Amino acid sequence: MRVLRAITCSSMLLLSGVSHAAESVEVVHWWTSGGEAAALQVLKKDLEAKGIGWTDVPIAGGGGTEAMTILRARVTSGNPPTAVQMIGFDILDWAKEGALSNLDQVAAKEGWDKVIPGALQKFSKYEGHWIAAPVNVHSTNWVWINKEALDKAGGKEPTNWDELVALLDKFRAQGISPVAHGGQPWQDATMFEAVVLSLGTDFYKQAFIDLDPAALGGDKMKEAFDRMTKLRSYVDDNFSGRDWNLASAMVIENKAGLQFMGDWAKGEFLRANKVPGKDFVCMRFPGTQGAVTFNSDQFAMFKVSDSKVPAQLAMASAVENPTFQAAFNVVKGSVPARTDVPDTDFDACGKKGIKDLSEASANGRLFGSMAHGHANPAAVKNAIYDVVTRQFNGELSSEDAAAELVTAVAAAK
Ligand code: GAL
Repeated sequence: MRVLRAITCSSMLLLSGVSHAAESVEVVHWWTSGGEAAALQVLKKDLEAKGIGWTDVPIAGGGGTEAMTILRARVTSGNPPTAVQMIGFDILDWAKEGALSNLDQVAAKEGWDKVIPGALQKFSKYEGHWIAAPVNVHSTNWVWINKEALDKAGGKEPTNWDELVALLDKFRAQGISPVAHGGQPWQDATMFEAVVLSLGTDFYKQAFIDLDPAALGGDKMKEAFDRMTKLRSYVDDNFSGRDWNLASAMVIENKAGLQFMGDWAKGEFLRANKVPGKDFVCMRFPGTQGAVTFNSDQFAMFKVSDSKVPAQLAMASAVENPTFQAAFNVVKGSVPARTDVPDTDFDACGKKGIKDLSEASANGRLFGSMAHGHANPAAVKNAIYDVVTRQFNGELSSEDAAAELVTAVAAAK
């Protein structure tokens, strides 16, 4: 009888998708910077309040490259974690391998289909089934500017390439590093995709979404690489290998003028008690206003023992809770993954992020981020990373880089 009751009880938990028992999740993620850890804490606390324990598996490395390598090793050795932070095509690749749990039960009960935008569902669903719970939407075509340095330079936000270059020259004249950058492939690629987007939304789509050889290897791509060479001249000598959050710190500490980075950078500014509009300015990369390149962090649940399923479903449910979505994203710098969360609690940058996202989506100007795995599977993404980084480091001319993009992408497809 007791056994029967236990079985009935656990299937009720399964059906309700909510666990009050001593369940726990082991979570692999790469949120190790100050701002990221603060946001993670919001999730951890939320789950704790629901009686779900948390085993933390942080794997440092912005963009998640290292986390994905370690995840692969764990799954291969038969030791998958319960939940993993994942982005874009990586989620679909794991789903294709049959490694992910099905979240349909909780998604149907909570009506996810109606509130999670189609652009995200493309990565949260595989063959019609929910396989991941999106926690946020980040976008990558942002610039984070030190307000004091901008004011000293005349206070005007640059609206095009020439104005950007003029501003960077003024930062240099102030004796600060014009651009705070970390020389890691994913950071180079993040800057590069904003440069490509600034040369036209059609161009971005042809190059990174359609992988059209004419766009990948054409004159516009050469121009994009020329712009990278120019930006390289504004980076300090110690940029190589620097973590993105240390680059953010240079802007925060008045050592650099600006950083080209996704809105997770805002998490660092907030963590340092900096206020948007007063201490720093957030703006879209000059020439990209109205367009958005996005990436969305999602939690995918791996197929582990049945006893873990209630905790997995409870975590997925907690992640999609509208109140949690507001609380988490305010700290993380991202915007909610649901369309029904009011922008009330968000600062000026967050409100702009929410508005830009919905307008770009309505106007057909919303694109998956190449640098953050939302344009192509990892093999193609890594092929592009390689060319972009070699060109940025002066190993390839613009012309050779454009030609190499075509061959590297063709080989990786
Ligand atoms: C992105 C991720 C963000 C942020 C960033 C830097 O790929 O979506 O949440 O963590 O990497 O680590």
